[in-house]
Amino acid sequence: MKILLFLGSIRTSTPPRPARLGERVARACAAQCGHDGTEVVLIDPLDYALGEVFKPHFAYAQGRAPLPLEHLASEIASADGYVMVSPEYNHSMSPALAHLLNHFGSSLFAYKPSAIVTYSAGQWGGVRAAVGMRAFLSELGCLPVSAMIHIPAAHTVFTADGSFAAEVDGMRWIAYMQRTFAQLLWWAAAARGEREHSGVTPATPAFLRDPSQRNAP
Ligand SMILES: Cc1cc2nc3c(=O)[nH]c(=O)nc-3n(C[C@H](O)[C@H](O)[C@H](O)COP(=O)(O)O)c2cc1C
Repeated sequence: MKILLFLGSIRTSTPPRPARLGERVARACAAQCGHDGTEVVLIDPLDYALGEVFKPHFAYAQGRAPLPLEHLASEIASADGYVMVSPEYNHSMSPALAHLLNHFGSSLFAYKPSAIVTYSAGQWGGVRAAVGMRAFLSELGCLPVSAMIHIPAAHTVFTADGSFAAEVDGMRWIAYMQRTFAQLLWWAAAARGEREHSGVTPATPAFLRDPSQRNAP
């Protein structure tokens, strides 16, 4: 089982301090999601130079996109599920995460589940961003599982290396996080079995010109 875990922040500014809380949240999620031997691949948007103009992977001729996009497309295609880790910015999901994901068509994500993880430095843990992420990820094709992980004051929960801070009850956090990851891995295994058994044969072909091709008659 292979899970891609997207780190949703590219923030380098301080303040607000500490810089890029998302790193520790992503590390903690990778440890919890991969504890049973599941392969978890961390995708850091800072590793992908997307260029100043927006040209998605699917806008290039097949196999002709820039190498980083081709690489990420094949990682997305080969994964069995996704963990989307996002900070809350202005009650919304991270623009860096949305921008990265917008580079890829839904066919790469389709028929696989996702899990939503949000966090913030404040008290709500990104729940308002999470609501919007459900719609975003559903449209992308990787339906989110029902349980979600929200981490308020994430800088007090995790240390910089993604370990639990001494002051928190790590076992309670593990139980809370495992509820979501157990759902994700169950659906990922089920969807993988069905893809292998029945294949992926949509009743209608993918739209190739524009989204109006799937409009109601
Ligand atoms: C542009 C911006 C908008 C923010 N909006 C919110 C918000 O709506 N709700 C919230 O709880 N925190 C908000 N914060 C605070 C973030 O939770 C905090 O900065 C967190 O560290 C961001 O994650 P990151 O460090 O991984 O980028 C905002 C921060 C920034 C930079």
